[in-house]
Amino acid sequence: MTDVIDSGAAYGRPSPTFDADLVQVGPGTPGGELFRRHWQPVAIATEVAQRPRAVRILGEDLILFRDGRGRPGLVYPRCAHRGTTLYYGKVEEEGIRCCYHGWLFDVEGHCLDQPCEAEGGRHRDRIRQPWYPAVDHYGLVFAYLGPPERRPPLPRLDILETLGDDEVLTNSQTAGLSGPLVIPCNWLQLFENVMDPWHVFVLHSSLSGTQFTSAMAVAPRVSWEWDGDYGMHSVQDRDFEGKLFRRITQVLAPNVRIVPSTQAGADPNAFGAATGAIWVVPVDDTSTTGFGVRKAPLGPDGKPVPLRGAATFEGKSWWELSEEEHQRMPGDFEAEAGQGPITLHSEEHLATSDRGVTMFRHLLRRHMNAVREGSDPPGSLVGPDATVHVEAGNFILEPS
Ligand code: FES
Ligand SMILES: [Fe+2]
Repeated sequence: MTDVIDSGAAYGRPSPTFDADLVQVGPGTPGGELFRRHWQPVAIATEVAQRPRAVRILGEDLILFRDGRGRPGLVYPRCAHRGTTLYYGKVEEEGIRCCYHGWLFDVEGHCLDQPCEAEGGRHRDRIRQPWYPAVDHYGLVFAYLGPPERRPPLPRLDILETLGDDEVLTNSQTAGLSGPLVIPCNWLQLFENVMDPWHVFVLHSSLSGTQFTSAMAVAPRVSWEWDGDYGMHSVQDRDFEGKLFRRITQVLAPNVRIVPSTQAGADPNAFGAATGAIWVVPVDDTSTTGFGVRKAPLGPDGKPVPLRGAATFEGKSWWELSEEEHQRMPGDFEAEAGQGPITLHSEEHLATSDRGVTMFRHLLRRHMNAVREGSDPPGSLVGPDATVHVEAGNFILEPS
């Protein structure tokens, strides 16, 4: 008999697993229930009109519309009568009318009319189309998919609460800095990238060329800090023209990312407090999108100055790259989706530079446990004063 030698061969390796609690978002899962205790954006408000839209969020398929009175409505697709989809419904002043037999539902699912029944349906009050609250906020439509009695206030960030005369809020659908609008992987492997500033030094600055700026390419000194019990931020210090360039990126549990401009040193507007946030929204366990809101200065033409922030690849956008160029100049999309539909936690070897990722997973578990035990998620996002102070930004300081 020969001794078994640990040769490192791929043959016979253990079956890989992921931590289901961390990644699942469906109803009844720890993560799904945490997400269902926070308002989540589902669309850009100006894109929600009378034409019904199919929306998939947290593993649920829903129909989003705006009634003739301007109220957003988010309802379960299968009509309470005989189940055809309200995707083919017609939106009216008071709600959405099913295409099949014309039952009319308002934005809270009340059945207002049953035209094939006597008197428009003598028992229509007994019918309720399942619905979720939806409201316009920061130029987005936010929805609350959780228990009605635990509905929190709408999320507010101090940087978005006051607008100067020459500023407006702008919105985008985006899950990251490059790649498609819906990314084919679990939300967490996208999101924890924000607490991983070391990848900027490698992925965005040397391995793939300079995707951001030379100021961002300097090796940082990195630390991480908690923000109350609702979030955390990373601090990245770099030397810059004899000064200290301090970059702070921030996350709020579970899924708000506040990342300042990546154009420090190239764009004069890149310094100062961060100007916006992105909600990274799970479509389901294996696909993810996001919605952003940003405070933009108005240009001389009276239009918001477009954001300079998307990574560039030898002057090309992500969409213009050939397969070979994606291999030669990978960015966030390739690194994150490249972990597979759901990353395999059993195969990871977390190191010192992953401390931010470890801390964030710990924070997430604490929030999931609080919800599982019947409490609200910890932190000011659900307190009476739901306005969060934003720490993130690019700051120039005197070296100490
Ligand atoms: S199936 Fe909708 S009204 Fe009949
Ligand atoms: Fe990145």
